[in-house]
Amino acid sequence: MTRTLTLTRPDDFHLHLRDGAMLQGIAPETARDFARAIIMPNLVPPVVTGAQAGAYRERIMAALPGSGFTPLMTLYLTEASDAADIIAAHRAGLITAVKLYPAGATTNSGSGVSSFENVRATLEAMAEAGVPLCVHGEVTDPAVDIFDREAVFIDRVLDPIRRATPGLTVIMEHVTTADAVAYVQSATTGLGATITTHHLIINRNHLLVGGIRPHYYCLPVAKRESHRLALLGAAVSGDRRFFLGTDSAPHTDEAKECACGCAGCFTATNTMPLLAEVFERENALDRLEGFVAHHGADFYGLKRNTGTLTLTRQDQPVTFPARIETGAGPVTVFDPGFAVHWQVSRAG
Ligand code: NCD
Ligand code: ZN
Repeated sequence: MTRTLTLTRPDDFHLHLRDGAMLQGIAPETARDFARAIIMPNLVPPVVTGAQAGAYRERIMAALPGSGFTPLMTLYLTEASDAADIIAAHRAGLITAVKLYPAGATTNSGSGVSSFENVRATLEAMAEAGVPLCVHGEVTDPAVDIFDREAVFIDRVLDPIRRATPGLTVIMEHVTTADAVAYVQSATTGLGATITTHHLIINRNHLLVGGIRPHYYCLPVAKRESHRLALLGAAVSGDRRFFLGTDSAPHTDEAKECACGCAGCFTATNTMPLLAEVFERENALDRLEGFVAHHGADFYGLKRNTGTLTLTRQDQPVTFPARIETGAGPVTVFDPGFAVHWQVSRAG
């Protein structure tokens, strides 16, 4: 029997669109299903000023002629960021948030923050002006094991920042641990979290057992199964502090499949069918709309979308392209490793 599911058109609250030929190749993959996305600023060089965000937004729109897609821009916080420029860009509607990368934590994060004391005044000005802060929550201390970096970040960095700047709205990006889920649940106001599609599906065994799988390597790295289950529990719980941010992060196959492969899973092409499958397995299809279309918009104070997206459940498993060919090279689409029966049948 064919079943259909019609949702408010979803938003992606954490997305990498890149630039140039890669942007041209992969932007339609998101715009097909999603109305809006929070666009990460980790280009080379990073998007630091309001003017740069405005120019990047134009390049994104130019890559999507005729689409109704709205990119929600972010600025990359550096120790030299100009608080007045951030606030003016926010007031002008040029940016939606600011992204904090600990220096060296992930792809193109070399210009990030080394000492949080150096951005304290900027964070205070953002709190005052109501500019949200998106946080990549991993410490970079080489003495801390990579699987512990998120949990340690909460105690060493995130909680002190939130205590020092109580009015600041913070989104903990791509949470991967039960520790982060518990921390977000413990906060009464001003703290939300994005959860990716792939962290609901893979644990570290998928990455490492039976051979190393470069297309499952991302940052923060997938953790053990108990953590995946905590993320799944949060996603299907209906808790409005948790919402979708795919962290779809394209790299060419050449950059992934080599001796020092880049971090990032590319899920833009099949995220909605994968999430429908995951939520159906949890008997939580009625919670999918909140997770993909309501909680994030409400948290950011954005109007909910008026359009819809319809998914249809097929009796036979559906297939997706294995890779997207771009002018920068092929990009492999995330393979969940299980049969998927849902497909997007209409977006409007
Ligand atoms: C992202 C990228 O490639 O830009 N990679 C990733 O593994 N998620 C950076 C990031 O969000 O950490
Ligand atoms: Zn990211």
